[in-house]
Amino acid sequence: MDENKSYRIVVIGQGYVGLPLSLEFATHYPVLGFDINRNRINQLNRGHDITLEADTEKLNNLLKKYIKTGGKLGYKATNELEEISQSNVFIVTVPISINKYNTPDLGPLIFASKMLSGIIKEGDIIIYESTVFPGCTEEECIPILEKYPGLKYNESFYIGYSPERINQGDKVNTLTSVKKVTSGSTKEIVEEIDNLYRKIITAGTQKAPSIKVTEASKAIENAQRDVNISVANELTLIFNRIGIDVDIFDPWVDKAEVENEYGIAILNKLSEDRKYDSIIIAVSHHQFLKLNFGNIKKENAVIYDTKTCIDRNLIDARL
Ligand SMILES: NC(=O)c1ccc[n+]([C@@H]2O[C@H](COP(=O)([O-])OP(=O)(O)OC[C@H]3O[C@@H](n4cnc5c(N)ncnc54)[C@H](O)[C@@H]3O)[C@@H](O)[C@H]2O)c1
Repeated sequence: MDENKSYRIVVIGQGYVGLPLSLEFATHYPVLGFDINRNRINQLNRGHDITLEADTEKLNNLLKKYIKTGGKLGYKATNELEEISQSNVFIVTVPISINKYNTPDLGPLIFASKMLSGIIKEGDIIIYESTVFPGCTEEECIPILEKYPGLKYNESFYIGYSPERINQGDKVNTLTSVKKVTSGSTKEIVEEIDNLYRKIITAGTQKAPSIKVTEASKAIENAQRDVNISVANELTLIFNRIGIDVDIFDPWVDKAEVENEYGIAILNKLSEDRKYDSIIIAVSHHQFLKLNFGNIKKENAVIYDTKTCIDRNLIDARL
């Protein structure tokens, strides 16, 4: 990384992914958190985060730092295009949902790319973090950015892709403690982007050979997670049908939403009177790390930890 280069970072989308990322970078660089939701901007500038993903004390300190340093360090949320136009690194963390045909809705990504095409300048770097299919960045986003007259890909502006790997609500495996995969549109830009992320990711980074490979790594990771969830759901349905009693406990999920979406009843709290023959840990929520297994297991019960997160002495087997 060119230590003399002064980075001014904008993170487009201030949700579960964008806000924590902004705050980590804001301890090293001036960061503007851009969002189209005016309420979210106002709340963030008052030091309030309804997603509960960010450390509120950190948010408030970085907001103060931005004011105290005259915008040279720290964090500010904004929805003013004019304000972000002087930045030189733009990180896109907008949502990608699935439409009724089960295909990805690229609307927010295209909207954000069009917006950026109007403000990026010579030498700027745009890094996409939203979850996309392999090929999306090069086939869908770059042509939009190139439409702006005078801007040439890999001559006037550069691209990176570095997928976010957090699970919202997980306070143990956080942004900085999970290895981050990085990629870029030229050899030099990969190095620059990788060095930038190394400033904040204590777990380290993994440079990938291309943007497409990095997008594919994210697709594989999500497929693995979805297979785990589907297997747990299917087993629950089958076991319930054949009379094996199964409880699913998750203190984080919205009970009504899961019931509505999957027809599965969830417990947000474990009953003190109920004891189990088998306990399967499928996610590493911090509440599970503090569970007193002695209180919830029957004699000779089996505890299986699929996330390798529980003390080895407390469990019978790991994945
Ligand atoms: N939440 C997770 O655990 C997680 C984990 C890994 C990857 N991801 C991926 O990261 C991306 C962001 O996810 P999230 O959970 O932060 O979403 P989110 O819905 O919490 O936040 C997205 C934010 O982007 C804003 N936004 C939408 N369009 C915009 C635009 N054009 N310009 C500026 N702001 C815009 C929204 O107002 C919202 O505040 C998605 O692609 C998601 O798949 C999420």
